[in-house]
Amino acid sequence: MSHRSIRKYKDATVEESTIRKILEAGCRASTTGNMQLYSIIITREEAGKKALATCHFNQPMVQNAPVVLTFCADFNRFNKWCKLSNAEPGYDNFLSFVTAAIDALLVAQNVTIAAESEGLGVCYLGTTTYLAAKIIDILKLPKGVVPVTTLTIGWPNEDPGQVDRLPLDAIIHKETYRDYTDDQVINAYRNKENRLDSLQFVAENNKETLAQVFTDIRYKKSDNVAFSNMLLIVLKEQGFMNQ
Ligand SMILES: Cc1cc2nc3c(=O)[nH]c(=O)nc-3n(C[C@H](O)[C@H](O)[C@H](O)COP(=O)(O)O)c2cc1C
Repeated sequence: MSHRSIRKYKDATVEESTIRKILEAGCRASTTGNMQLYSIIITREEAGKKALATCHFNQPMVQNAPVVLTFCADFNRFNKWCKLSNAEPGYDNFLSFVTAAIDALLVAQNVTIAAESEGLGVCYLGTTTYLAAKIIDILKLPKGVVPVTTLTIGWPNEDPGQVDRLPLDAIIHKETYRDYTDDQVINAYRNKENRLDSLQFVAENNKETLAQVFTDIRYKKSDNVAFSNMLLIVLKEQGFMNQ
């Protein structure tokens, strides 16, 4: 209940033992068939963080955080085990990518909770899937491995307030999906739209509505289509497109 993304970190190291502790806890996450279809790349050295920063549009957290974790969907290790065991893997397909990506994301969120319970602050980086090809290159990820999300981790050097969430009743559906009336949608987003930071956001960006800030600036179609096409190429190259 007290989660907030932390984007500023103290210039203090995170002990190796603490990292191992949160990763051990992370790996207790449920995993498809107990296959653990993920790998976690730990980046602590400046050179590595500098290289990765360019893949994340130079978001300052990447270089400022003492630890950067890249969570990868990984069928490479499992495929190798199958082949060494006279078993023919059938995981060169899109479903298997989604399966491994789900596993990787569950671990990432468990690591988040474990880190926060140690007093650490974390921030996810969605940019991981935008420039995945470059990350694959930098982290030397083999075929069968695709980065799906990144966490920057460190001791908090800021104390931001919690940001809003939609009311729970706007999110839940009882037994079957109850599609939203226009009024229900307007009510669900009303508080978000009326927040001071949202109003400032709209004004600063010269937009009429908060939704336009999302559609025209933050997550616009042209970017989505371009990055989507790039990701499809990555999935093909990494062996997840039904070859
Ligand atoms: C998959 C994912 C990707 C995200 N990517 C970024 C990012 O690239 N940069 C950033 O500053 N925050 C990023 N965030 C953090 C969100 O902006 C943040 O979770 C959201 O605004 C809610 O704020 P809170 O985490 O403080 O509750 C990401 C969060 C998720 C779950």
